Amino acid sequence: MSALDLHVHHWEPAAEQGQPTLLLLHGTGGDEHDLIPLARLVAPAASLLSVRGNVLEQGMPRFFRRLREGVFDLDDLARRTLELSDFIDAASVQYGFSPDALLALGFSNGANIAASLLLTRPQALAGGILIRAMVPFEPETPVERRGRRVLLSQGRTDPLIPPSGAERLSELLRQGGAEVELAWQPGGHALTQGDVTAARRWLAEWMSNERSSSPE
Ligand code: MLT
Repeated sequence: MSALDLHVHHWEPAAEQGQPTLLLLHGTGGDEHDLIPLARLVAPAASLLSVRGNVLEQGMPRFFRRLREGVFDLDDLARRTLELSDFIDAASVQYGFSPDALLALGFSNGANIAASLLLTRPQALAGGILIRAMVPFEPETPVERRGRRVLLSQGRTDPLIPPSGAERLSELLRQGGAEVELAWQPGGHALTQGDVTAARRWLAEWMSNERSSSPE
């Protein structure tokens, strides 16, 4: 079996040259179609690699098992994180994108596996937009994360993720050198227009930074 078979997925090539690839990671109960409208609002011309989580919780797809709300099966999380990284490697060969221009766009459970990837194998991604992410696990050893850029877009009154959880995740990602912006939205766990606005602005900055740092 090829690592590409690890996840049901959907690929859309970029409409223009010089665009990043967005790795779309849905929330619990979503699938590979869920975040495409959001991705098109944030990055109309980017390539999209949209992935379906391969764990089922009462029929609802997720990216890793949990024991209950907010309490994760850490062995399963570690295994699925490495599998997602292997899947990304295989997909980059199949579809011809570079991990240096691959940004996660994850919501809730999808943002949590993106955070796990950035904590475990940061070289798999250039960074990402993580909406309503929490600390997936506390790493034992620091990992080099220089050059990775992350937007955390969090709900000020999120009943699942207290502000201290988002602040801790931001601190963990900064250890090892990632650049992290923590943007607070006035809502709870649900996606808001503020997330879209923050994501669009952050991505425009990311692209302008890439253009100015790439050789002529
Ligand atoms: C998770 O399980 O990843 C978080 O609790 C978010 C969710 O999917 O509800």
